[in-house]
Amino acid sequence: MFLSINGQRHAVPDGWQDDTLLMVLREALGLVGPKLGCGQGQCGACTVLVDGQPQRSCLLPVSAVLQRPITTLEGLAGPDGRLHPVQQAWLDEAVPQCGYCQAGQIMATVALLDATPQPTPQQVEAALAPQLCRCGTQPRIRRAVQRAVQ
Ligand code: FES
Repeated sequence: MFLSINGQRHAVPDGWQDDTLLMVLREALGLVGPKLGCGQGQCGACTVLVDGQPQRSCLLPVSAVLQRPITTLEGLAGPDGRLHPVQQAWLDEAVPQCGYCQAGQIMATVALLDATPQPTPQQVEAALAPQLCRCGTQPRIRRAVQRAVQ
């Protein structure tokens, strides 16, 4: 059994099966892009892609995602280090304030634009409304999404 994360296989010891994916990503594998916010599936700070879909890694037991492709923030850049267009748009718009929710916001945006390259404002709203930000960067997030679309 293995986890497939950012294109790399990681053998799964028995002790990981009941841990959450978020805990294993951060504590065992050092992938600290996804953050622990609420830990209850409410905030989206822990969002990663599983099979290309945004998922809350704080709720996912490792046993549920074995052998499925998982992408974290660390897996978005190209092999040459070139940032993903969504990451670049985030930088260009200087989106983060405290930054805590931003990995989840970016992952949700990547999933949206992969599925819908030209989303309507309503589709953007529907995709990002579940991603909470408490310090008020939503206007910059929306501008960065528009920049990434162009
Ligand atoms: Fe997972 Fe809040 S930490 S949804």
